Amino acid sequence: MSKKSAPINIGIPEMQRAKIADGLSHLLADSYTLYLMTHNFHWNVTGPMFNTLHLMFMQQYTEQWTALDLIAERVRALGFPAPGTYKEFVKLASIKEVDGVPKALDMVRTLVEAQEATARTARDLFPLVDEANDQPTADLLTQRIDVHEKTAWMLRSLLEE
Ligand SMILES: [Fe+2]
Repeated sequence: MSKKSAPINIGIPEMQRAKIADGLSHLLADSYTLYLMTHNFHWNVTGPMFNTLHLMFMQQYTEQWTALDLIAERVRALGFPAPGTYKEFVKLASIKEVDGVPKALDMVRTLVEAQEATARTARDLFPLVDEANDQPTADLLTQRIDVHEKTAWMLRSLLEE
């Protein structure tokens, strides 16, 4: 006999929890797509900047990998299933994947856009989270926005003369 799980009563109505979980699922999909893109570029980068970019991309995907877990587990704490398949991620993500192997600086340009897209997805959710008085999600979003904006700046700096 299966038992119904205990209801969630954390002070955020179910309707708001559902909307926040949906927004976080979009953020998870963008974060996963960005993670995989960064790891792909770590594997495939070539050219005179190989060492710099190979190592820089590794730092970035390692940080992103850890963040995926925090985002997914926040969705669970709000009472909803976290998306965890490529099929769902493709549907939910705003980031477009690349075909083939771009040149090193095109990889950097693509990553700037993907970092900024992920920051926008996180920021778009903020008003809803604020209204729902959901501090843990606000804290998580603040941290993710900070990381993505900082990483976008570092990548963008590589493109300047
Ligand atoms: Fe490696």
